[in-house]
Amino acid sequence: MTRQRFRGRSVVVTGAGQGIGRAFAEGFAAEGASVTIADVDGDRTEATARSTAGAAAVEVDVADEASVERMAAAVVDRFGGVDVLVDDAGLHMGRYNLCSDPPLEDWRRLFDVNVFGAVLCARHCRASMAARGGGVVLNQCARSWSSGSAGSRTSSAWRCCCARTRRRSERRRPSSSTAGWCGGPDVQAVGSSMSACRARA
Ligand SMILES: NC(=O)c1ccc[n+]([C@@H]2O[C@H](COP(=O)([O-])OP(=O)(O)OC[C@H]3O[C@@H](n4cnc5c(N)ncnc54)[C@H](O)[C@@H]3O)[C@@H](O)[C@H]2O)c1
Repeated sequence: MTRQRFRGRSVVVTGAGQGIGRAFAEGFAAEGASVTIADVDGDRTEATARSTAGAAAVEVDVADEASVERMAAAVVDRFGGVDVLVDDAGLHMGRYNLCSDPPLEDWRRLFDVNVFGAVLCARHCRASMAARGGGVVLNQCARSWSSGSAGSRTSSAWRCCCARTRRRSERRRPSSSTAGWCGGPDVQAVGSSMSACRARA
């Protein structure tokens, strides 16, 4: 039987409608977490929530601050707050490569989703994390630096964003910022981070 290390914990996964985010959501749910499936695609959000035990669906555009604020409020209403935030929502824009010259509106959307999306989610989940004694932020989005796609161009900004999350969390609350491929080991890494955070709290 799967260990239930996240029983009683509230986990928000953005971009959980499909792909890596969905795998994160299913992994946390399998370990007992109350998971919020948050994605811009309403149909995929509902479908993933229906097939994930104990999960709630919230449609959100992480690039839109009002939408993120509503998501954070919905999580507080439903699960009392946030213990783990997985920032997975992101764009690959695989139609571009390193020789492409994407239109400015695509550049803006890329940074709005892959970089500022993570900033907004952390900002609006922070209060309820702090109220619960700390939490963990996993920044998975915008990490495809080796692919040569447009998404890879946000990686330096992503690293800045992670470093800043780390610095802020060390100063102000027990937390952690990490990233990586999805799967058992990553969920285990979060488990270790959670234990460390609780120990430090
Ligand atoms: N797949 C890879 O090889 C890889 C490698 C490194 C990093 N990443 C990053 O991991 C994340 C997930 O990758 P994936 O391959 O599973 O991607 P994917 O395209 O399969 O899934 C991304 C999900 O994010 C959602 N999304 C997009 N924009 C959103 C927005 N504005 N608000 C909320 N949700 C939004 C999409 O609807 C989709 O469900 C991405 O951020 C990507 O940059 C992927």
